[in-house]
Amino acid sequence: MGVLGCADIAWRRMLPVLAAHPAVELVAVGSRDGAKAAAFAERFGGEPVAGYDTVLGRPDVDAVYVPLPPALTADWTRRALQADKHVLCEKPLTGSARQASELRDLARARGRALFENYMFLCHPQHQLVDDLLAAGRIGRLRSLSAEFTIPAKPADDIRHRRDLDGGALTGVGGYPLRTALRHLGPGLEVVGAFLRADPHTGVDTGGAALLRTPDGVPAQLGFGVEHAYSCRYELTGSLGRITVPRAYTPPADHTAVVHLERGGAHEELTVPPHDQFRSVVTAFVAHIRSGAPSPLTGGALVEQARLVEGVRAVARLP
Ligand SMILES: NC(=O)c1ccc[n+]([C@@H]2O[C@H](COP(=O)([O-])OP(=O)(O)OC[C@H]3O[C@@H](n4cnc5c(N)ncnc54)[C@H](OP(=O)(O)O)[C@@H]3O)[C@@H](O)[C@H]2O)c1
Repeated sequence: MGVLGCADIAWRRMLPVLAAHPAVELVAVGSRDGAKAAAFAERFGGEPVAGYDTVLGRPDVDAVYVPLPPALTADWTRRALQADKHVLCEKPLTGSARQASELRDLARARGRALFENYMFLCHPQHQLVDDLLAAGRIGRLRSLSAEFTIPAKPADDIRHRRDLDGGALTGVGGYPLRTALRHLGPGLEVVGAFLRADPHTGVDTGGAALLRTPDGVPAQLGFGVEHAYSCRYELTGSLGRITVPRAYTPPADHTAVVHLERGGAHEELTVPPHDQFRSVVTAFVAHIRSGAPSPLTGGALVEQARLVEGVRAVARLP
């Protein structure tokens, strides 16, 4: 694999698992800055490379990881697919449904994998939620609420940059949207949305959205990048409620707890520690080798982009 960009998320989360994964050999680390590439290569292996095109031009690179700012992910993913590389792209791949559809089609036409790294989908705690729902433990599903908010980042962070498509919707808003898609299915409509614009940067620093399924189940979503930390979702049924308090960022050594309330009783169901970043890599490799299905690829990429686009359109942020 090769890497396009020496990003913070690459350093902290993805390169440790890519470098250690038995199915992956890291051969090239690309950066606009030679010293950064050298530091990454020293820690994780591979050759430091100047520029992203040089990585894409290497015949010994079969796949690339793309942890670029949101404004650049779609373009470099397209270039990588055109160079016949499999792509593991950081979220968000794009906020345009048309572009998502084109990229998905391009990947299919080239016979290459295209994953968008909503890594939380690989954690088994969400399968436990599915099982509880399927067993009727909360009765009929009536509503969903989800929230991902994080404290403010330093002033030079990409999330404050409008030209790089920073902001709360691209930074964290995709997670509650993806949660609605994961549990309520495709065909969701954005019926309300608000994005708060920072008066200095013009970037959205927080927001909320109201979605509904075709048969009238609502989803209330919140997100923000200057807020107290929260990453949780809740499903309310006709008879009970399921709460997932550490929905998006459970550390690899964290025993996840899913709460079930029904008829005044409260159960805490635990899920053993799981490294969701490592699972993404395993799923990516399995998809490349045998076409194994994954929630990180396929039609969900287009549905996700359609929701992001819908929130922007309804919120009418200039
Ligand atoms: N899945 C997750 O859990 C997760 C978590 C955090 C972030 N993310 C996503 O990962 C991406 C990177 O986030 P991050 O927080 O790691 O950001 P970051 O540290 O700022 O990394 C972005 C990288 O993009 C490259 N880049 C290319 N052109 C740039 C430009 N004009 N300005 C700034 N950087 C540029 C830089 O690499 P070089 O200088 O080496 O070229 C930079 O290191 C974002 O799209 C974000 O949404 C995902």
